[in-house]
Amino acid sequence: MEKRQQLYAGKAKSVYATDDADYVVLSFRDDTSAFDGEKVEQLNRKGEVNNKFNAFIMQTLSGAGIATHFEKLLNETESLVKRMQMIPVECVVRNVASGSLVRRLGVEDGMSLTPPVFEFFLKNDALHDPMVNEYHIATFGWATEAQVQKMKQLTFEVNTVLKQLFADAGMILVDYKLEFGIFGGEVILGDEFSPDGCRLWDAQTRKKLDKDRFRQGLGGVIEAYEEVAKRIGVTL
Ligand code: CDP
Repeated sequence: MEKRQQLYAGKAKSVYATDDADYVVLSFRDDTSAFDGEKVEQLNRKGEVNNKFNAFIMQTLSGAGIATHFEKLLNETESLVKRMQMIPVECVVRNVASGSLVRRLGVEDGMSLTPPVFEFFLKNDALHDPMVNEYHIATFGWATEAQVQKMKQLTFEVNTVLKQLFADAGMILVDYKLEFGIFGGEVILGDEFSPDGCRLWDAQTRKKLDKDRFRQGLGGVIEAYEEVAKRIGVTL
């Protein structure tokens, strides 16, 4: 497999073509952004930590029967993934209230949510990723009804697997964001799963171990990511 030209550069990852039209290289950079790209910093080692963290999670999910784009780790900061047609919505599941849910609805931060809440957001930084529902997705043709159902089903399956994985390591999976794409006509999990796109709290102390440390200027961001990785058994 040969790495070719850059196809796309996102806020934290870049995508490169390969000599195989079905595969691309995901390159995890140290750039860290928040507030739709308004706050950006370089955090040493983040690309490597997230690349390895994501590989571990994607392999765990794949082992649980959830189809993902992940193929293999290539090096410290890069992974080979299937080239998908991305669905332009983000799927969020919340087990505990925090972040935008608290701001939007005025509920208490840290409140346990039963059943968990599911939300769709449109991927659009200029519009600040507005919340959308299944009618918007159908009307504007972002995904078919069957694809919407599949994304919801897979996002909840991920919750079952990962809530347990983090609980076993003394953490609470507060919420997380997933992105899906289409490969060979099927909806599969894409993008990444890392502390950049979820909230994780220590189960005993409720210490934040995720990107909220960066958003809120709490410091120790990478140290927290490494701690999470170590607890769940990721080899760094
Ligand atoms: O992060 P913020 O409070 O603005 O938004 P949220 O709706 O509370 O985010 C829910 C979860 O999705 C958190 O774990 C975020 O880290 C994640 N998320 C993300 O990874 N990317 C986004 N564009 C929006 C949310």
